[in-house]
Amino acid sequence: MTTAHPHPEPAPLPHAELHLHVEGTLEPELVMELAARHGVTLPYPDVESLRSAYDFTDLQSFLDLYYANMAVLRTAEDFADMTRAYLRRAAAAGVRHAEIMFDPQAHLVRGVPLETVVDGIASVLATSEEEFGVSTLLIAAFLRDRDEDEALDVLERLLAMDAPIVGIGLDSAEVGNPPSKFVRLYARAREAGLRRVAHAGEEGPASYVADALDLLGAERIDHGIRCLDDDALVERLVAEQVPLTVCPLSNVALRAVGSIHEHPLLEMLDRGLNVSVHSDDPAYFGGHLDDNLAALEGAHGLTAEQRATLAANSVRSSFLPADRRDALLAEIAAAS
Ligand code: HPA
Ligand code: ZN
Repeated sequence: MTTAHPHPEPAPLPHAELHLHVEGTLEPELVMELAARHGVTLPYPDVESLRSAYDFTDLQSFLDLYYANMAVLRTAEDFADMTRAYLRRAAAAGVRHAEIMFDPQAHLVRGVPLETVVDGIASVLATSEEEFGVSTLLIAAFLRDRDEDEALDVLERLLAMDAPIVGIGLDSAEVGNPPSKFVRLYARAREAGLRRVAHAGEEGPASYVADALDLLGAERIDHGIRCLDDDALVERLVAEQVPLTVCPLSNVALRAVGSIHEHPLLEMLDRGLNVSVHSDDPAYFGGHLDDNLAALEGAHGLTAEQRATLAANSVRSSFLPADRRDALLAEIAAAS
């Protein structure tokens, strides 16, 4: 016998998704569909065998599959289909604004023109608010395991084509590729009026977090969990209220933390850090924003106040104009 649930789940609180790689939203089903579209042969015969490869030991083991699967992204339509599928799912998760990273170099090295990538993604973002109720901004992320001159060249090309980007980011293999490698790139981005974020302290040391702030002028740190190894740095991050975009299911999947039960998100919140919850690469790490919040809820329990703080932090840490930010904050307050 089934009975209707007397108390349906409340609608999720409005959130800003600030740490999301659009290529990391490529679900196995879409990988297979695009492979068939282009006659690309993959080392996986079906969706199940591809999904079973999503078992990672560290950041690099994930990056290997993440870059390999990009082989199916060939045309602007492919990029548009991927972006649309993400926005549809994100809207259901409570995402009302998304600042979406893409990896231009990962496509250029495969011979896919920059215009194809940018036009495909941007064509969907242009109408995301009307179509999905999600406002969007686009961030070009640079691969830190490649050299700075290449990144500078790609940035110049993005500027020359007037790509609709709000800022730049820094991702890929962290250890051994410190922020100091990209000082000129970030100086150029600042000069061009772009916002600046950077992955730091995911697998790399706490010193990379400080260097991303001091050497790159990063306004927001992606991950940042390793800051907990350095009390003086934590004090500084609290004092400056530096936004840290934390991704719990990613941290568990890539074994940056032992399990969701050991995840330090609530400790970070208690210490006064400006943390918010995000999904990173939802197709690879077992979930979107709502799944990340549910995992924290299941392992730690969240008070209504903690839920509201996480939602409000995400909105405050965004690059939205003040009026839209205030409107979302008012919605969160009213729903809490
Ligand atoms: N870390 C570093 N590089 C990445 C990530 C990440 O979480 N996702 C996509 N590229
Ligand atoms: Zn990331």
